[in-house]
Amino acid sequence: MTIDLGGRVALVTGASRGIGRAVAERLAAAGATVGVHYGRSREKAEAVAEAAGNHSRPFGADLEAPGAGQGLFDAALGAYGRVDVVIANAGTFEEAPLDAPLDAWLAAWDRTMAVNLRSVAELGRAAARHARDRRQAGEEGVSVRLVTVSSRAAFRGDDPEYLAYAASKGGVVALTKSLARAGGGLAAFGVAPGFTRTDMAAPFIEANGEAAAARGIALDRLTEAEDVAPTVVFLASGLADHATGTTVDVNAASYVR
Ligand SMILES: NC(=O)c1ccc[n+]([C@@H]2O[C@H](COP(=O)([O-])OP(=O)(O)OC[C@H]3O[C@@H](n4cnc5c(N)ncnc54)[C@H](OP(=O)(O)O)[C@@H]3O)[C@@H](O)[C@H]2O)c1
Repeated sequence: MTIDLGGRVALVTGASRGIGRAVAERLAAAGATVGVHYGRSREKAEAVAEAAGNHSRPFGADLEAPGAGQGLFDAALGAYGRVDVVIANAGTFEEAPLDAPLDAWLAAWDRTMAVNLRSVAELGRAAARHARDRRQAGEEGVSVRLVTVSSRAAFRGDDPEYLAYAASKGGVVALTKSLARAGGGLAAFGVAPGFTRTDMAAPFIEANGEAAAARGIALDRLTEAEDVAPTVVFLASGLADHATGTTVDVNAASYVR
């Protein structure tokens, strides 16, 4: 079984670092042109795009801003004339203790929901509309594939400091199911990683040690971004279209549902 994405255009959010970067590299290795989205890490995204080749290029957008997800999709569509794959991966993991002042707690809630859920909804809406347009133009079957990146926290929950994070990821799973049910030339999938060694996880490892991070997993090493990326690419490839609506766990059996 080979995955050939030659001629396809993929937009990957949060591709400057971590899981998104690993996904972008895998997509490019399969032949895709990759829109390498970044928020603040422009130089890193430029390097990812250059290494990817295939006319890949970076796209900047702060996904906390209303409309930024739509604007990002429009920028990629304007640059390439088509978007075949959207990987909604960018995310933030912000602590908000129960005893934080309410205004600070609410600000963290709003930032988290904006980046982790609303921007994903904007991208999903844009992907569904693009798929519908292509269907109306005569394309048959699945035109656009969306893969969202949620988290183990969507199913297991998270610590009280991360209520917004877990709630946003639960929303991503429900959003993905709803977009899948709409069909209309769009297939929508999710991937729910467990603890993965990236910048997002680094503070926990630094504070608690590697053994604490690995506690509960059934494999003999921590999950790396490169362990998550192949599942994302497989779902985006067209080989899994009849699994549309599903979210696949990639958590080394640390949470089995
Ligand atoms: N690592 C884990 O243990 C883990 C576990 C479960 C789920 N996940 C999920 O996996 C996804 C990727 O996480 P990761 O571990 O790869 O994280 P990461 O290494 O911290 O990278 C986060 C990415 O998201 C982008 N981003 C964050 N806030 C943004 C904003 N406001 N606007 C635009 N881009 C923004 C960052 O872009 P810039 O650097 O360019 O700003 C970066 O590319 C996230 O959705 C995360 O919730 C991670």
